[in-house]
Amino acid sequence: MATGTEPHLKSGQDSGGVRAATRAAISAAHLRTDRWWLAPAATAAGLFAFIVYSTWRAFANADYYAAPYVSPFYSPCLAENCEPMRSGPNWEIFGSWWGLSPALLILIFPLGFRLTCYYYRKAYYRGFWASPPACAVAEPHKKYSGETRFPLILQNIHRYFFYAAVPVAGILTYDTVLSFRDEHYEWGHMGLGTLVFLVNIVLIWAYTLSCHSCRHIVGGKLKHFSKHPVRYRMWQWVGKLNARHMLLAWASLVSVALADFYVYLIASGVFDDPRLF
Ligand code: FES
Repeated sequence: MATGTEPHLKSGQDSGGVRAATRAAISAAHLRTDRWWLAPAATAAGLFAFIVYSTWRAFANADYYAAPYVSPFYSPCLAENCEPMRSGPNWEIFGSWWGLSPALLILIFPLGFRLTCYYYRKAYYRGFWASPPACAVAEPHKKYSGETRFPLILQNIHRYFFYAAVPVAGILTYDTVLSFRDEHYEWGHMGLGTLVFLVNIVLIWAYTLSCHSCRHIVGGKLKHFSKHPVRYRMWQWVGKLNARHMLLAWASLVSVALADFYVYLIASGVFDDPRLF
């Protein structure tokens, strides 16, 4: 009996994707009546704004340090052309041959971490590539190879970016500790920037530890949780964070941009860091 959803294609013909011979033949792109396009449009706008802002700041190579604060985009500073930061993460392992912005040396790690993140993949596949644009909305592409071919097969190295993201978060923690100095490097002080850095580092750690790879590293490949109570407890904690991974991804993205922007405002002399004590 005909149901009206028989395959579009003749047997042996298979273009892949939602028009594949094995898929139901629904000619409408979707049957949704809600504003399904709002979420991918908002996601694309948010990500695009961050890309524009971070590209500008990464290439600017200026206004990224105002004692005691260093922008998270420039930490650690790995080239000789970095601004000297007293007791700060000035590790000139690339020496003097690196002539571009030092941010480009370090941003590859947090950028790669976010680019290969399971949540961000969903976000930008939907927002930028409409692949698919939303649940139950057919994608416009005729072929679909998933993440089985270059370049998307590289998404599988996400776990290694997680390994790199942990020390980067550790260094940003160190920067946050250094923000308890004043502009003369005296300890025991706090400014508005210290609070900005504190909020940022909490969100960076929460996002990093909520990673799906982290959850697997902590609790995966175990046959009996009862024999590994510590890992089980850690897996439960990470699981709670993991349930909020999308929220933490956005919150930490905004907070890291705000922390950088705060340093930019101070370093460029727009205003002085208000001291709390
Ligand atoms: S899955 Fe999002 S950071 Fe790992």
